[in-house]
Amino acid sequence: MATLTWHGHACISLETDEGTRILFDPFLTDNPAADIRPDDIDRLDYILVSHGHFDHFIDCIPLAKRTGATVVSTFELVTFCSNQGVEKVHGMNIGGGHRFPFGRVKLTPALHTGSIAGDDTGAFTTDCCGFLLELNSGKRVYYSGDTALIKDMELLSGSVDVALLPIGDNYTMDPADAARAVEFIQPRVVIPVHYNTWDLIAQDPEEFRRLVGERAEVVVLKPGDSYEV
Ligand code: NI
Ligand code: MN
Repeated sequence: MATLTWHGHACISLETDEGTRILFDPFLTDNPAADIRPDDIDRLDYILVSHGHFDHFIDCIPLAKRTGATVVSTFELVTFCSNQGVEKVHGMNIGGGHRFPFGRVKLTPALHTGSIAGDDTGAFTTDCCGFLLELNSGKRVYYSGDTALIKDMELLSGSVDVALLPIGDNYTMDPADAARAVEFIQPRVVIPVHYNTWDLIAQDPEEFRRLVGERAEVVVLKPGDSYEV
């Protein structure tokens, strides 16, 4: 079993059954919802980053430098990381996949803007992406990234066990749009993220559960809670 842990906002860690440690969208510094601090992370193998907004990227470079983790993201974002001194990066682009030791990763479309926090030139601006992971266990995890509801999500139908979707509104889908995304994706399990970090994205996850109804199992986590994939 792989263990997925929510650290508040869209920051998720995933430890595979082989012990590979993956962190999605590191946002622990100044994250009022976080259950841990960056220093609490001692070993990390991969950091998967959907886009460069501070609430997804702020701890990426320091964590990568300290732990030696490989940063996986869009070409522009990993180039920025390389230029900042990160040694191990793997650049990809939307629609492309790659087999890593822990499984296959494919970058999926997301509809969201994507400047990079810390890039004063604008030269590294890049679209947000999502990630579809097929772990060696065969389990498939979809991390949508910040996104609007897009019809392209229908293409994932039948290929997702666990979906992580934003429900916070204002910057991303709201619970109603996220419930429609569930209709498109048809995952077995859905976990809502990117809400209740600040008042602006306050949401009741039970409302999301009600809207999803029988279409999928809705697992509501508190920061620090884990789910076995
Ligand atoms: Ni964003
Ligand atoms: Mn965000």
